[in-house]
Amino acid sequence: MRTHYCTDVTEKNIDETVTVAGWVNSRRDHGGLIFIDLRDKGGLVQLVCDPADNKEAWKVADSARDEFVLIATGKVRARGEGLENPKLITGKIEIVVDELVIENRSKPMPFDLNDDKVNEEIKLRNRFLELRTTKSYDIFKLRSKVTNSIRNTLDELDFLDVETPILTKSTPEGARDYLVPSRVHGGEFYALPQSPQLFKQLLMVSGFDKYFQIAKCFRDEDLRADRQPEFTQIDVEMSFCDQEDVLKVAETVIQNVFKDIGKEIPTNFPRMTYSDAMEFYGSDKPDMRYDLKMVDVIDIFGRSTNEIFSGIAKDKKANRIKALRVPNGDNVFSKRQMKGFEDYVRKFGAKGLGYFQMKEDGLKGPLTKFFTEEDLKEIIEVTGLEVGDAIFFGAGDKKTVCDYMGRFRIYLAETMEIIPKDSFEFLWVVDFPMFEVEEGKIKALHHPFTMPKDLNKENTEDIESIAYDIVLNGTELGGGSIRIHKEDIQSEIFRLLGISEEEAQEKFGFLLDALQFGAPPHGGFAMGLDRMIMLLAGTDSIREVIAFPKTQKAQCLLTKAPSVVDEEQLKELSLRIRKQQADV
Ligand code: AMO
Repeated sequence: MRTHYCTDVTEKNIDETVTVAGWVNSRRDHGGLIFIDLRDKGGLVQLVCDPADNKEAWKVADSARDEFVLIATGKVRARGEGLENPKLITGKIEIVVDELVIENRSKPMPFDLNDDKVNEEIKLRNRFLELRTTKSYDIFKLRSKVTNSIRNTLDELDFLDVETPILTKSTPEGARDYLVPSRVHGGEFYALPQSPQLFKQLLMVSGFDKYFQIAKCFRDEDLRADRQPEFTQIDVEMSFCDQEDVLKVAETVIQNVFKDIGKEIPTNFPRMTYSDAMEFYGSDKPDMRYDLKMVDVIDIFGRSTNEIFSGIAKDKKANRIKALRVPNGDNVFSKRQMKGFEDYVRKFGAKGLGYFQMKEDGLKGPLTKFFTEEDLKEIIEVTGLEVGDAIFFGAGDKKTVCDYMGRFRIYLAETMEIIPKDSFEFLWVVDFPMFEVEEGKIKALHHPFTMPKDLNKENTEDIESIAYDIVLNGTELGGGSIRIHKEDIQSEIFRLLGISEEEAQEKFGFLLDALQFGAPPHGGFAMGLDRMIMLLAGTDSIREVIAFPKTQKAQCLLTKAPSVVDEEQLKELSLRIRKQQADV
């Protein structure tokens, strides 16, 4: 139907006759002359209809409206002096229309496609229209390029693309499962996979050696800007490997993605232990685009005459006193802002937020009276304070202090607008603890199939695992581990997690069985594809990089899923809906 896409028509086509097809992005009537910006997947080209040249075509243009589908044939000419549009690839030319056909009409748009500020609900209800914009198309073009790059890299590295089941048994990755009732086995359910974790491990037992999958995963969890109930992972597993081998594959995949989309990143990603990440940045996913590193000042504060600080400093294992130096902070922060900072950290459990100001004649602030001159000097030294800086400190139990000071670090960086745009800072966080305690219950920090480093520790919480996360600009992009390939260790981990032998058999019997049939040492990782695209495209919400996303309440506003189903369907599935309490 067409000879060119809109954006392919440029100065080199001047005097040629071309045919383009697309949607009316806008239409302007300039006292007789009608200009139409015609849009296809790539962008816009300007059509001109002059009643003096071609009355028929002009009449059609006159009846065209926004989002009508047109096919236009005409001669390309240079735009007049001063009429060029440098914002458009096609901004130097226009097509003088000879023949114009309306292929289809459109109802008035429910929202203005060219307006960025439209309410998200309206856009999601009409997602197929939002996807018409060049901005959306470019995101999906990028996404397609990235998945192709990943496939190419993994194919070159000899990884086999294997699909694993969607209707399966629950795999614990920490969220609730989406369940699918079985018709044939009334009262029984499949679970949609939270990840292909156990299947990829089984493929290693099968001797496939290197597996990958661009895999759909499903998790019923609280949604945030970077979480969807249905998302995609770049899922990888390999045999006879150690941590170094796995990290190398992940780095190669990422480096090739960046190369293929024309961006430069370093060849080796820096590493940090989990313990350092928590101590220095209060997070297991620190954003390395800016500094603001916390410094431990518990010894100095322990010597102060302030009883609260000296009391906290008595237990150096359980407690922390952390200082955060903010270059130029004293010069730029107002009194009101300082108060606002305190209100911010209080939301995360801080009892207060102490500060010093670095003046020409030394440290100043309400708390300096509790310190000797030498100790104040030592604070300046260990934190590297310079005149004009401010220093904030938090004191209390380790977990709370690291958490709120870590959040405060991010808040400060955002307030001070020191986060560089268009910069990509990767970090491997390694040596994760095997377990964490949540509400008094012991849980696997990654998942229970992760290889522990040494099980013989007095305190279970001190057991480390061979697990790693890849962090990009403060977002957890992916994670993985070396897996347990011996049945006795796997059973021991289940026991430590308080999973009885019966329960382990019921839930993971097939894995425990497989581990007894010559399972090779193996490990792998998974990265969130949607999160990767989000960071590459610079979008604020994961919904923009998913063609048909769900809302924060896990609904698809376009299809109106989830929805009620017929009584008949329920009956076939041996299901009955329990009435809400109020109706009973
Ligand atoms: P994990 O649970 O860390 O590991 O998931 C890996 C990556 O998947 C992405 N991700 C999500 N993206 C969008 N929405 C969500 N709800 C969501 N949940 C997770 C994140 C995350 O880093 N089986 C292990 C991997 C392994 O050990 O090989 C796993 O699934 O980017």
